Amino acid sequence: MNKPVTSAAGGCPFSAKARNFDAFDAPYQADPAGALRWAREEEPVFYSEALGYWVVTRYADIKAIFRDNITFSPSVALEKITPPTPEALEVLKRYDFGMNRTLVNEDEPVHMERRRALLDAFTPEALEAHAPMVRRLVREKLDAIIDRGRADLVAEMFWEIPLTVALHFLGIPEEDMEQLRRFSVAHTVNTWGRPSPDQQVAVAEAVGQFWQYSGQVLAKMQAQPRGAGWMHDMIEKNRQMPEVVTDNYLHSMLMAIIVAAHETTALATANAFRELLSRPAAWAELCANPALIPSAAEECLRHSGSMVSWRRIATRETQVGGVTIPEGGRILMVLASGNHDPRHFENPDELDIYRDNAAEHLTFGYGSHQCMGKNLARMEMRIFLEEFTRRLPQLELEAQDFAYQPNVALRGPEALWVRWDPALNPERRDPALRLARRDFPVGAPETRAIQRRVTVTAAREEAEGILGLTLADPTGAPLPDWSAGAHLDVVLPDGESRKYSLCGPAGSGQWQLAVLREEAGRGGSRWIHDTIRAGGELRVRGPKNHFRLDEAAPAHLLIAGGIGITPILAMADRLKARGKDYALHYAGRSRGRMAFLDRIARDHGAALSLHVGDEGARADIAALVAGAAPGTQIVACGPERLLEALEAETAARPDVTLTVEHFGTAPALFDPAREEPFEVELRDSGLTLTVPADKTLLQVVRAAGIDVASDCEEGLCGSCEMRVASGEVSHRDRVLTAAERAAGDRIISCCSRGRGRLVLEA
Ligand code: FES
Repeated sequence: MNKPVTSAAGGCPFSAKARNFDAFDAPYQADPAGALRWAREEEPVFYSEALGYWVVTRYADIKAIFRDNITFSPSVALEKITPPTPEALEVLKRYDFGMNRTLVNEDEPVHMERRRALLDAFTPEALEAHAPMVRRLVREKLDAIIDRGRADLVAEMFWEIPLTVALHFLGIPEEDMEQLRRFSVAHTVNTWGRPSPDQQVAVAEAVGQFWQYSGQVLAKMQAQPRGAGWMHDMIEKNRQMPEVVTDNYLHSMLMAIIVAAHETTALATANAFRELLSRPAAWAELCANPALIPSAAEECLRHSGSMVSWRRIATRETQVGGVTIPEGGRILMVLASGNHDPRHFENPDELDIYRDNAAEHLTFGYGSHQCMGKNLARMEMRIFLEEFTRRLPQLELEAQDFAYQPNVALRGPEALWVRWDPALNPERRDPALRLARRDFPVGAPETRAIQRRVTVTAAREEAEGILGLTLADPTGAPLPDWSAGAHLDVVLPDGESRKYSLCGPAGSGQWQLAVLREEAGRGGSRWIHDTIRAGGELRVRGPKNHFRLDEAAPAHLLIAGGIGITPILAMADRLKARGKDYALHYAGRSRGRMAFLDRIARDHGAALSLHVGDEGARADIAALVAGAAPGTQIVACGPERLLEALEAETAARPDVTLTVEHFGTAPALFDPAREEPFEVELRDSGLTLTVPADKTLLQVVRAAGIDVASDCEEGLCGSCEMRVASGEVSHRDRVLTAAERAAGDRIISCCSRGRGRLVLEA
């Protein structure tokens, strides 16, 4: 166990809540993210004496640990969290148990050498070949129960299908399924559970048998001529490079991969069905709009994933979230908590099937140790959901108490009872529905497919040429809350979209937009002005926020030009509500063209300065910046010349920060005929790729199986930003400020390119 600890502040720094934390108590086992809400807010990194682990709860801290697997070694990832008893060790010895490190808990450089050698079967392109097999298995199991009206989906299919898929993928004979399930549970309890001394002996027996069984299967496979499947690839690598893929490695890997490849998917699928069926409106929406299935599956992985936590050990004294971790400090990263961190996910406790950054969840880990099978798991979950929403849309969750196998890593219900009325099965009316499948591309969900229908409840003129819209959920349910600076993408009839900021008030369950008619624009605002009326419907994506207030800043200078007032007004509302120090400058050509003047004067009069062009009162940007106190966050939205002036003035003020949002359209960003190929090294993932002239960096990175979020794919929103460790960037975006470009540590991957070789933190 680690020694007592000190933080940067010195002394014994942890609260009673931290000292009392128990990862095996009922509230944590039932809802790990909820049980650690206090920690995310008050004590994001703390030491648990009961566990002997440093517990890390915030998204950014967990990601930083995953990013650096030299300082934070994965070697303890499969260590028994409850030390074995001498009797249990004796049992394991009897079985010659000798499980060694495998891909998940190996250090560099050997880990990446092996991972690279074994990665080919996991690219999205290679995985497509498995979809028909998954579809067939799901369909057969569903055929068997569809006229029954009641089933425990875990027992009937959620564990067996992922296990069959895993064995098929690995090329292992599909035998002894029940026994393998029993072995997998024993492995979970052995590694992450808290078995009693008596249970330890029983568990050790099962683990020993599992070890023996794996050895027998491996020997059988080695004796055969080369067959299909990933284990046969490994056996071949073992023949070709026995010093990289050793004999013991093969045996250990076979045992570990059987568990890793199916139990996580089985539990994640059970969690997803439980969460979706307990929200009938979300289930109904999926049935009506199956294009949302990939995003819904991803959101379930975020909200209620099957991997609750993962472990690392510090190889030197270091800092996490401002807390000092000593050399040898064991770290429990609570992925479920990071996935509910409001600093990264809007309304994190809500299950929102429209969430467009759900794929940034930590359930698959991150970086060079990220789950290799993630896209296989996604594929299975999507096919389960697609078959059930099409063939049993009337499915309901039965009232039941859910039981979980107590452990700190894997979470999912042991049974999931559902019921339905077979007389309502759609295929009884239309037999063609049984086979009317819909396929999804392998990989992270495509954000463009995540569209929500909203009703326009009011449309009014806010100022000359500015149309105000109020939007509501068609079912009358409240629309999700949003944070100041957030926007919606309004989808146009041609499938293109335009971005409009939400302008408050937040928290009303409705959304407000203000749309300036731009005669010289691309036509989106003209379509909205000419077509959209109260009672009509719009399709939107979001809310998304790439324009965030730093509420910790000591002062805020808010500057809006013209229609740029929309996000700025929401920010002013927020700062006022929190009693923060702010000044609001609003510039426009004339009062008649400036929206919300009355409301702003009423709500923000004390902080407001108006700069009305035709009254001769222009904003003096140089004076505003010069007058900003050190530490001020300057936040601006408006025309390009305003933002450029601010960038120029703040370049000499490193003691203030500038956050801006552009609302112009982007210039042509990418012309394959004129581009040069470049090389990119993904440092965290250990991959080197070539970006050809006719592909974007984003496309190439995704094809290698690395998830990178994207939204506009026009260089406007910043959601596809990647961190640059070294190399020269040719910037094409409209997101980064001059100072950020000069720093050279970011690239907007949908449009910007490297010159020569780039090294990225990804
Ligand atoms: Fe919006 Fe790249 S996806 S800037």
